[in-house]
Amino acid sequence: MSKTDLKDLIPEWQQVLAGSGPEDVLNWALKQFGSDRLMQSSSLGMEDMVITDLLREISSDAGIFTLDTGRFFQESYDLMEEIRIKWKTPIRVYFPEAKAVEELVSTKGPNSFYTSLENRRECCRIRKIDPLKRALDGLDAWICGLRRDQSVTRQAVEFVEWDEAFSLVKINPLAQWSEDQCRDYIKDHSVPIHILHKKGYPSIGCAPCTRAVREGEDIRSGRWWWENPESRECGLHKKK
Ligand code: ADX
Ligand code: SF4
Repeated sequence: MSKTDLKDLIPEWQQVLAGSGPEDVLNWALKQFGSDRLMQSSSLGMEDMVITDLLREISSDAGIFTLDTGRFFQESYDLMEEIRIKWKTPIRVYFPEAKAVEELVSTKGPNSFYTSLENRRECCRIRKIDPLKRALDGLDAWICGLRRDQSVTRQAVEFVEWDEAFSLVKINPLAQWSEDQCRDYIKDHSVPIHILHKKGYPSIGCAPCTRAVREGEDIRSGRWWWENPESRECGLHKKK
């Protein structure tokens, strides 16, 4: 199916999926696209762990990838290893292009992201966006862990939507779930989670750009905390 055909079908699919639960959305996605045209994108955060657990119940063929920026917490690698060993679930890892990182760090230093929004976006582009483009190459759809109540920038997230920035279908099975629903699922299904979730980090990205938040604070306020809330997206989920 061409990109235009896929895009045109989105409104119809949104109707079909209205009122569905995460499992129905994943079942539908696997039937619709097949495991060779669809992958889960996992940051190893709690939403992604819920989705991986649901996926492996449905099909052992469903692939997962992670974009390893080279600046992850050690605890992220520990969880990656736990998934590989305990669940025997392989994760395809995409690294940034070595030359681009060498150039960035040599010219602007290892912490350029703190100095301006432009520099922060440049680092995210090199370490996340460009590798994501390689990961999505040849796919019709990707599965993400976005939830509406995660931030002001995510309130319109749908189960299925057209990803204008990367020209493929984006599937968000947890769009309508709350953080409590995720935590309940994790408890009920003994899903392994990132250890930092138990230490005040509701949202986890790269180590230098993520910090713990206080009880009651916005869940994404620990991400790029020195920036305005409106700019706190790395470009993976921008609208265009
Ligand atoms: S981010 O854009 O601010 O980094 P967030 O951490 O909330 O996003 O994650 C939202 C979703 O984006 C995750 O559920 C996952 O699907 C995807 N994602 C984010 N970071 C990565 C990553 N490093 N590798 C793969 N997928 C990621
Ligand atoms: Fe770079 Fe920070 Fe973006 Fe990670 S989150 S890619 S370290 S700017």
